[in-house]
Amino acid sequence: MKHRFPDHLTSARLLLRRLHRDDAAALCAYRSLPEVARYQSWDAFGPDDAARLIESQLTAEPDIPGTWFQLAIVETATGDFIGDCGLHCPKDNSRQMEIGITLSPRHQSCGYATEAVECLLDYLFGSLDKHRVFASTDVLNRPATALFRRLGFRQEAHLVEHLWFKGQWGSEYLFALLKREWEERYSQKPATPDPAPQQTAPAVSRPGGIGGVGHSARLL
Ligand SMILES: CC(C)(COP(=O)(O)OP(=O)(O)OC[C@H]1O[C@@H](n2cnc3c(N)ncnc32)[C@H](O)[C@@H]1OP(=O)(O)O)[C@@H](O)C(=O)NCCC(=O)NCCS
Repeated sequence: MKHRFPDHLTSARLLLRRLHRDDAAALCAYRSLPEVARYQSWDAFGPDDAARLIESQLTAEPDIPGTWFQLAIVETATGDFIGDCGLHCPKDNSRQMEIGITLSPRHQSCGYATEAVECLLDYLFGSLDKHRVFASTDVLNRPATALFRRLGFRQEAHLVEHLWFKGQWGSEYLFALLKREWEERYSQKPATPDPAPQQTAPAVSRPGGIGGVGHSARLL
């Protein structure tokens, strides 16, 4: 076994942890919405899908080539399960990681996705020493493309009508960020105070700061 995921990761307002069996209803509640599924690999997402996904993740680890590792995003203030994010370690390139994220619509547009991905990037470039993190988004998925641009990802490709997706040809952007680019960006950020220390160590958090992929390769 290479790396074991810590108990959780924390940022100013969020906690990222493994999926639990009792997350199924919350996962289903937002993943089944058409606006959430629109650019994702699924059309419908019911209780069986949630149970299958969670079951497949109970013993998963984040750094196993050729596999996805899925995390719950929890709002610390309320304890609410507000979304999930996926880490895909490519089979033939384990120094890289593909990421994806889904938020419940009720929790969109307040910076939670930005904060969750920042927290993940600290973990991926720090604890897992990844060289490159990448994500693909449908070109029509404005919030997702805005998210990766906001985080400083470079747009590396615009793949035009390269895959048949939900009954039509779909186009995608490929976004990527290198470890050195992340470190450079982070070093230029003003320090902000750490969130209050958690009782449930061990955790990984960004020192002094906060802290779906597209449809082509998405497994979970
Ligand atoms: C992709 C997705 C996660 C983006 O979520 P999001 O809510 O737009 O992103 P954030 O949570 O970072 O919020 C950003 C918004 O909050 C605002 N905001 C408020 N406080 C903020 C803060 N502290 N930091 C950053 N943004 C903040 C931003 O200005 C932005 O506003 P806008 O929506 O008017 O542009 C979401 O649209 C989603 O789950 N979609 C369905 C699933 C999907 O398609 N996933 C993509 C797979 S790659």
